[in-house]
Amino acid sequence: MDKNLDKRIQTLAHWMYDSLYLVFFTGAGISTESGLPDFRGPDGVWTRRDKGLAPKPMKKQWDAVEPNKGHLAILELQKLGKLKFLISQNVDNLHLKSGILPELLAELHGNMTKLRCTQCGRTVDQSAGQSKCDCGGPLVSSVVDFGQSLPERDLALSFEHSRKCDLFVVVGSSLVVTPAAQMPVEALNAGAKLVIINAGETPFEKQAHLRFHEKIGEVLPKAVKRLKKLMGLFE
Ligand code: APR
Repeated sequence: MDKNLDKRIQTLAHWMYDSLYLVFFTGAGISTESGLPDFRGPDGVWTRRDKGLAPKPMKKQWDAVEPNKGHLAILELQKLGKLKFLISQNVDNLHLKSGILPELLAELHGNMTKLRCTQCGRTVDQSAGQSKCDCGGPLVSSVVDFGQSLPERDLALSFEHSRKCDLFVVVGSSLVVTPAAQMPVEALNAGAKLVIINAGETPFEKQAHLRFHEKIGEVLPKAVKRLKKLMGLFE
């Protein structure tokens, strides 16, 4: 591993160790190492569309797609009691599938395995086969389309935790879609350090206090391993 990367990983581990309020923010980039496409990366769904190409065919069925070591590194932070909150733009359900607690998670753009009641806002698993909510309201896909409003609970909690955090770590997002991309702004305004682990450029290059362009799977698991050492926990 190059010295510079090693030093930056060490810095991230120290910052997570010292953090009293650690918030993670993920986008489609954290799921590419599970075989899912992102949107604006070199082979992303919108990148290909703009070239008149269809999305790359998926190699496996949806339910065979598994969380990768990037997801599992964030789960480890939850187990260590370090993860205060996780804000995700992803609808692929991989954070819940990895074991992230629903109460620690905001899925700002919904979740493709869940339906949402248009009356009370509650979500139910699609697998439950319910056509109506317990409150009698109609159930529709929870996935948020462009122009639709985001789920209130998830949006409110994302703003709340972004304003309280002292360390905000962005993983796999181009940070171009609002209001999701407002969250790092709130964190910076609250005086938090901003870390970005993302191959592509983002509008926050100047504001980031620590930047990784390397693959998420090469950075995050190593940083969590170093954190555990700092906490006196050995593998
Ligand atoms: N390691 C590091 N970075 C990666 C990796 C990886 N393995 N894979 C992809 N990336 C980076 C890409 O370079 C890209 O900059 O992840 C970023 C993903 O950005 P987007 O594709 O724009 O995804 P996201 O930011 O989540 O998009 C936000 O846009 O289309 C809407 O609703 C959709 O939730 C989505 C929203």
